[in-house]
Formats: sequence, C-alpha cells, structure tokens
Amino acid sequence: MKFSILTIFPKILDSYLNESIIKRATEKKIITVDFYDIRALSKDKHHKVDDTPYGGGPGMVMTPQPLHDTIMAAKKKNKGPVIFLTPHGKMLTHTVVKRLSKLNEIILLCGRYEGIDQRIRDTIIDEEISIGKYVLTGGELPAMIIIDAITRLLPGALGDENSAEEDSFTRKLKGKKEYPHYTKPAEFRGIKVPDVLISGDHKKIATWRQSKLS
Ligand code: ADE
Repeated sequence: MKFSILTIFPKILDSYLNESIIKRATEKKIITVDFYDIRALSKDKHHKVDDTPYGGGPGMVMTPQPLHDTIMAAKKKNKGPVIFLTPHGKMLTHTVVKRLSKLNEIILLCGRYEGIDQRIRDTIIDEEISIGKYVLTGGELPAMIIIDAITRLLPGALGDENSAEEDSFTRKLKGKKEYPHYTKPAEFRGIKVPDVLISGDHKKIATWRQSKLS
C-alpha cells in the first residue's frame, strides 16, 4: 500500500512512522509513505499557503494554488483517491478502514487553519473523512490514524502470532463479547489472577471465560 501525505508539516509524523509495527511494515515493503510539502509548491514569494476568507469571518483559509499543485504532483506518482481529512467528513469506522485497505494507493490531504478553498474540495478531492466529532489543529494525526488502522489489516503487517481479524478489539467491534485478559505476574498489588486461569484445565477455563463475557 502506497500512502502519500500532503501537509505543510512533513516532519510531524516521522517519529510515529519510524517505530514498531508501522516501521516493520515499511521495512517489509508492505507499505510506503511519502510526503509532499504543500508550502514548497506555493508560488507566493513568501511561500504563503493561507489567506483571509472572502466574505469575512474568523480564521484563515488554505489557498487553492499550492493545494492544487501539490495534489497534481502527488497524482503523478500515486493513482489512489485523494482523501481530505476534515471534521466535516464521513466518520472513520472499521468498515471504512477495511474498504480502504483493499486499495493499493491512497493520497491523504491534511488541512490546517479554518479550512481549504472550496474549489479544491469541489474539483479534486475524492472523499472526505473525519476521525471524530472534535476539531484538531490539522489533518496530520487523522492521516496517521488512517495509515495505522489500514496497515494492521494488511497481510504480514502483524506478526504471525497476531491476527487483525481475531484480536479482541476487532471481535468487540463486530458485536462479539469479550472476556477479561490477564498476564504475568500472578499477583499484582495484592490482586490475584483468577485461580482457574492457572489451573491448566482448558475446559474449566473455557467455561469461566464464557461466564465472564461482556
Ligand atoms: N482535522 C481537524 N479535525 C479533524 C477531525 N476530527 N477529523 C479529520 N480531520 C480533522
């Protein structure tokens, strides 16, 4: 899966992408992530990327030229849909993540300020996605969340010992109930792991887990 991130802060996501499962997925060539710096393509002599809104009102709006040129540059190398991260977009759910995980390429456009010029939304954005009903300072974290959620569904991204379909959160999302999990030590701050789990009696363990489903 090829992700192209369009942002005015291309370095903001470096540390997250360079750790753990995402790093491993990149090393295994399951994903690639490249960045396009929107400011770098601004034709304004001060590399401005925002301006005051026509009609007045609070905040600044991202100007169309740098966005248009950056999207066009990304489109030359990435044939996937252009997804704009915005609190006004369609809510990100497991179903949306699954659909996106079947694609080979995706362009993620991160907005900043009050919003982006409507002409860009009307002409070259394919889809708008929100990660929740709250407003962040930009679309970079939502882009990272999409990459993270998609990557763990891609074959080979999680180790053999883990399956995205079988993990407890995914089961819960599908409306399946979940039993409590415990690990070592057997006693932590005076609270013991239920004896049955240490009994080695798999039938009893299964019955206990069944009784604890919630
Ligand atoms: N940009 C700012 N807030 C956002 C949100 N909740 N979802 C997606 N993009 C955003």
